[in-house]
Amino acid sequence: MNRAISIAAIAGPILLGGYFFFQPGNPNLSSGEALAEVKVPPLAGAALAGEKIFNANCGSCHGKNASGKDGIAPPLVHKIYEPSHHSDMAFVLAAKQGVRQHHWSFGNMPPMPDISDQQMSDIIAYVRTLQRANGIN
Ligand code: HEC
Repeated sequence: MNRAISIAAIAGPILLGGYFFFQPGNPNLSSGEALAEVKVPPLAGAALAGEKIFNANCGSCHGKNASGKDGIAPPLVHKIYEPSHHSDMAFVLAAKQGVRQHHWSFGNMPPMPDISDQQMSDIIAYVRTLQRANGIN
């Protein structure tokens, strides 16, 4: 009897821990799934050019339509990144200097020194267009 109780006392928490660790959506596991639902408006001009540059340089981490990737990087179409909290200069600096992990637990963003000022200005036009279409102003 005592033995059964001690086995339960040991196995219980292990099983429970396993349940919480492996349940879907646990941020410790990288599923790469989108983290935000993003409506994509018609794109033109700088925003359209920015979409291509974003997909080639940022999308591998920040996801399609900047909707984030589970376990990898946050969505940029997110209230945290609205212009009054993260100005266009924050985007410029993110690419020039990289970003130390601070808002999330995805780790650091490496610097991306090959992005030119013109390319970044197109990327910003693209991300701001997506943000506005999703009620982030
Ligand atoms: C290797 C993965 C990776 C790539 C590639 C990447 N990022 Fe990031 N980025 C991150 C992570 C992770 C964070 C979140 C850091 C935090 O706040 O914890 C981040 C944060 C940011 C931020 C927020 C900066 C701040 O001040 O908080 C901006 C803006 C950003 N990224 C833009 C971009 C742009 C634009 C590109 C493409 C030129 C890009 N990122 C490419 C991983 C990446």
